[in-house]
Amino acid sequence: MSYSPIVCNSPRVTIIGAGRVGSTLAQRIAEKNLADVVLLDIVSGMPQGLALDLLEARGIESHNRQISGTNDYADTANSNIVVITAGFPRQPGMSRDDLLKVNAKIVVDAAKNAIAHSPHAIFIVVTNPLDVMTYLAWQTTGLPRNRVMGMAGVLDSARFETFIALELGVLPADVKAMVLGSHGDLMVPLARYATVNGVPITELLAAETINQLVERTRNGGAEIVELMHTGGAFFAPASATSIMVESIILNQSRLLPASTYLEGEYDLNNVVIGVPCRLGWNGIENIVQVSISDQERLALQTSAASVRVNIAKALEILAET
Ligand code: LAC
Repeated sequence: MSYSPIVCNSPRVTIIGAGRVGSTLAQRIAEKNLADVVLLDIVSGMPQGLALDLLEARGIESHNRQISGTNDYADTANSNIVVITAGFPRQPGMSRDDLLKVNAKIVVDAAKNAIAHSPHAIFIVVTNPLDVMTYLAWQTTGLPRNRVMGMAGVLDSARFETFIALELGVLPADVKAMVLGSHGDLMVPLARYATVNGVPITELLAAETINQLVERTRNGGAEIVELMHTGGAFFAPASATSIMVESIILNQSRLLPASTYLEGEYDLNNVVIGVPCRLGWNGIENIVQVSISDQERLALQTSAASVRVNIAKALEILAET
């Protein structure tokens, strides 16, 4: 195993964007005792206030991680991981793609500023539309593809697992599932690989019921946006991001879906999309190619085609500004 800058006494995670996802993620990382956290936002005072609030809970939560808030990228220097959550969330009726225009520039600026101070960092993008924003961060940082990834598949899989557990009345932790593809209406839940402690759900549920659960998973983010009216989900997105951070910092090598730039895997090129990956000290240690049906392959290709169109749109928007 090559030397990794993460092997040090105190790993450092910078979270850009101190909104609900960013601040909840800061809490999860600190309370899991994973790393010191720097919370950065453009709003003056806000990340500083949140960091102080989190610090004041340290004794009660029994951890000793440093948490600081800042508006200045210089304070994020030498981070091992940078998580980009900055950007606007969806409003009711909006798709993730509607956010393209407003969030493209925000993510490019964040990536540019962060890499200048943390050239060895691994980047995890959370801002929507997820796959396009991950592409932009990868392109902006100029990092090898294994060091820039997007969080979506872990969240989408957690939603699928939740709905399966609710339907069957089993312990949620006993359900394991993998959702691939873009983080959007064209995501690809692999129902054949979903199990309850190793028993495929196809043995436990009727095909029609599985289809309904898949549909609810596809609509998982929008369902919460519709209920909340302002903003969207943040508890589960923060949890999902925290296990990616954990797998990298602790070199757990977990097999998790992550959005990454593909160079021929799954017969896809020049696109960022969610696929099964092993996450460790080098970020994406490798992309795992599992056998998928013709129908699933077609669904992945359709998903990839829509991401490609939006990448092109984003690059056009950025070229105009
Ligand atoms: C969701 C947002 C984070 O799926 O995309 O809730």
